[in-house]
Amino acid sequence: LHSQALFTNQLIPLIKRGIQIADASKVVVVTDQNTSQHCLPLIKNVPFDLHYELKSGETHKNKTAYLQLIEFLIDHNLDRNTLLIALGGGVVTDLVGFVAASFKRGVTYINIPTTLLAMVDAAVGGKTGIDHHFVKNVIGSFYPPQYIISNHTFLHTLPQTELKSGWGEVIKHLLIANQSIPTNIPEINNDLISEWSAIKYRIILADPKEKKERLALNAGHTVGHALEGHYLKKKDPIPHGYAVAAGMLIESLITIELINDNWAYKQLEHAILPMYDKIDYTAEDIPTLIALMKQDKKNINNQIRCSLIKENGILLATPVTSDIIEIALLKYIQL
Ligand SMILES: NC(=O)c1ccc[n+]([C@@H]2O[C@H](COP(=O)([O-])OP(=O)(O)OC[C@H]3O[C@@H](n4cnc5c(N)ncnc54)[C@H](O)[C@@H]3O)[C@@H](O)[C@H]2O)c1
Repeated sequence: LHSQALFTNQLIPLIKRGIQIADASKVVVVTDQNTSQHCLPLIKNVPFDLHYELKSGETHKNKTAYLQLIEFLIDHNLDRNTLLIALGGGVVTDLVGFVAASFKRGVTYINIPTTLLAMVDAAVGGKTGIDHHFVKNVIGSFYPPQYIISNHTFLHTLPQTELKSGWGEVIKHLLIANQSIPTNIPEINNDLISEWSAIKYRIILADPKEKKERLALNAGHTVGHALEGHYLKKKDPIPHGYAVAAGMLIESLITIELINDNWAYKQLEHAILPMYDKIDYTAEDIPTLIALMKQDKKNINNQIRCSLIKENGILLATPVTSDIIEIALLKYIQL
């Protein structure tokens, strides 16, 4: 997982250099409908051979989109020396990464993240994949990009909702690193993106395959992914970072129930409650949410596990009973 992360004011020369080093037979840029419009023009001076457009949004991070892109590569007779460039948010980088991992047993790819969430999280760390059967990222692999090239100018066209979604993952990184969490999103520049993504980068370098330290990055995600899956099923998807923000708050309530430690809750309540609308699940949805948590990839023997942040440390992938999760989910409704 030794991709190089680059934060640059020299966007075009750097992408050109990446393409040169890859020495590919063909270069394919993959965007979604929005990044075709807003981001592709910013790299128009980059030499590439083909452009492929995915449909935008999480509901399209699926096997249909995956297979259609594979078919596009087959139809254009592309070989193992092809370079894919993912230009987009986490949906594009996750899906292109998985296509890169599996097309002809693996081709090189470069991530150019265009959302805050992808810059600080999704594009970094080599996890790739697609959703299936309402379970997030259930099909995928560890397959790092050759480079991650980030530049804050892509954020100028990003809708506020998406910026807030990325901010959810920034909050998580800051909490894990025990740094103070601002109550408002600051003006974002390349230095800040570099600082925030470095928190994840340091952790994955220590534990690329998520055996130990990397499990910390799953904070908020056991509950967050269940919320995301639930609303995906209802065809009313919520942005990933919103689900993670709520997930972190609910998991901090789990920490209170489990070990009577309210440190994370105290850090999070001022950062999350004023910024994000409450997720509107009801008590009747709780069995479905717990059933979705039973699909979580951290589980062992069907036992739900959460990475819980406490004062001076983290309980990595700790078993939590359904009863405690239910109490925390109910407490969140009442906040
Ligand atoms: N692989 C990982 O380690 C990892 C980590 C965190 C999240 N993820 C995944 O990332 C995904 C969420 O990523 P996301 O929030 O970036 O979602 P996304 O890719 O769907 O992007 C959000 C929206 O913003 C639009 N957009 C992107 N860049 C834009 C720009 N510069 N200007 C205007 N519009 C733009 C997109 O078209 C989309 O509509 C989820 O599927 C999640 O599972 C993966």
